[in-house]
Amino acid sequence: MAYCSEPLTKPITILTLQKLKAEQEKFTCVALYDAPMAAMAEQSGVETVLVGDSLGMTVLGYDSTLPVTMEHMLYHVEAVARGNKKSLILGDMPFMSYATTDQAMHNAMRIMQAGAHVVKIEGGEWLAPTVTMLAERGIPVCAHLGLTPQSVNKLGGFRVQGRTQQQADKLLADAIALERAGADLLVLECVPSELAKTITQRLSIPTIGIGAGKDTDAQVLVINDILGLTPKPPKFSKNFLVETQDIPSALTKYVSDVKTGVFPELAHTFD
Ligand code: KIV
Repeated sequence: MAYCSEPLTKPITILTLQKLKAEQEKFTCVALYDAPMAAMAEQSGVETVLVGDSLGMTVLGYDSTLPVTMEHMLYHVEAVARGNKKSLILGDMPFMSYATTDQAMHNAMRIMQAGAHVVKIEGGEWLAPTVTMLAERGIPVCAHLGLTPQSVNKLGGFRVQGRTQQQADKLLADAIALERAGADLLVLECVPSELAKTITQRLSIPTIGIGAGKDTDAQVLVINDILGLTPKPPKFSKNFLVETQDIPSALTKYVSDVKTGVFPELAHTFD
């Protein structure tokens, strides 16, 4: 069966994503970790791929992302960059690799030199000076708010964030501060859909949601969830392989469903 998604014909840039937001066309992101999946994502029209530190759990068998090191990230960013020449590649900076601005500058350089086009960091307003420092030096930044897995111990578990008015106000203030500091993209993970919608409307940079409802500018899912490899899949995920016959078709259906507003459904979102 054919779905409405085409292979990427030219490299996606930050400008492409800004244009898609301006034109209210949804785009996609897949967190993946190796060259063959990266190549299939390009063929299926996935505009952005994230080499996520989720690899600690999905590939390396850890219970959280905290044990992930720079060496793990560099190995996987290099593999993804070899497999995909057109999607915009986001590289996660692992736990404590950007705790100070000096560490952030050094480690962001390494992620970019491994082949990423954007670095992703988790945290709120406290990261504004880091974002500005990286932006001024030509490194695009994707901020990450809501459920920030590197803070799982501080958050008391993998829980939805922003449900109280106080938390919601703080999340919005953090998002605005990070945009003002120079962030180019914002991931919103596990936040109520109304809050994600408000943040998306208030920001001029694109938002990428996971468990954040249908109104973010883009959606991201982890490849293991898309392909049904996760033993206890999270509520916000969907196994696209069940309805399709092979991995390229599953990815193509994911792209098609995001672009046409079929995914995410209410069942994948939080209040
Ligand atoms: O590491 C990751 O894969 C992520 C996404 C789930 C957003 O941060």
